[in-house]
Amino acid sequence: MINTEKFITEAIDEIRRDAAGRSVVIALSGGVDSSVCAALAARAVGDRLHPIYVDTGLMRKGETDRIRELFGHLALTVVDAREEFLAALRGITDPEEKRKAIGERFIRVFEREAKKTGATVLLQGTIYPDRIESEGGIKSHHNVGGMPLECAFEGVIEPLRDLYKDEVRVLAGALGLPKEIQHRMPFPGPGLAVRVIGDVTAEKIEVVREANAIVEEELVETFAPWQCLAALVGLGTGVKGDVRLHGWIVSVRAVNSRDGMTADPLELPFEVLARIASRCTAEIPGVARVVYDVTPKPPATIEYE
Ligand code: XMP
Repeated sequence: MINTEKFITEAIDEIRRDAAGRSVVIALSGGVDSSVCAALAARAVGDRLHPIYVDTGLMRKGETDRIRELFGHLALTVVDAREEFLAALRGITDPEEKRKAIGERFIRVFEREAKKTGATVLLQGTIYPDRIESEGGIKSHHNVGGMPLECAFEGVIEPLRDLYKDEVRVLAGALGLPKEIQHRMPFPGPGLAVRVIGDVTAEKIEVVREANAIVEEELVETFAPWQCLAALVGLGTGVKGDVRLHGWIVSVRAVNSRDGMTADPLELPFEVLARIASRCTAEIPGVARVVYDVTPKPPATIEYE
């Protein structure tokens, strides 16, 4: 484990030195990594920090409003790019194509907005496992068609590059970030799009957003899973009154893990699962069936795509 106070002092010095009087921009997602980076940079360069939050429309319920509340004091820019992302995803069914389309759109939107701030230095919350995954080519997170975001800037600062997630959480506490950020579950960059199997539509995103909110309400406080989620895995037959109908199948996943590389499903009490099923089918129009995923990673991944 790192020496927290020493790390904070050195990271602030590093950011100040590498920024060298220039303005710094960061894509703030509200995740613990980018939030810690922003908090360090705010101490290092003050109002030369320009955090940008891109509302992709693929975020969880209430997330954009919450981020506005939490980071408004840092002169946060909130970009409404919901339509752009939906348009970029239209008709795409292949998981990797989906990730690419989202990554590419993200870079376009972010570059466009970053230019408006005049910042020439990019601050990124990359942590050690991100570098390993990107180098190993496991998933395409950080660049698009070999054109990394970094290219558009004079300089890049990655103060968390050698840290693991649990170390970043300790830093978040030491920097006085709210508990909900410090203990925030991992959430994938491509957002709810990787929790919809097949093509993404506004309707499916709404359904999966509501299902994720229910799962989090029922599980996060009581069971503190490392990560929990709901995914839309297909259509099946259901019945309402005496009418058979086609409805969504929601799969619930709750896992414990250290770093996301391996994971084990939680052994949840049946009544909790039953409550999630009855809430999802009653509260979300079009949901016909709810299942619980008991597969460890490996062989299954945590996300569905
Ligand atoms: P998988 O699904 O590969 O996920 O078992 C492992 C962990 O990584 C998160 N994840 C991502 N995070 N961009 C991210 O920033 C991504 O494209 C991405 N895909 C998966 C996932 O939520 C889990 O915590």
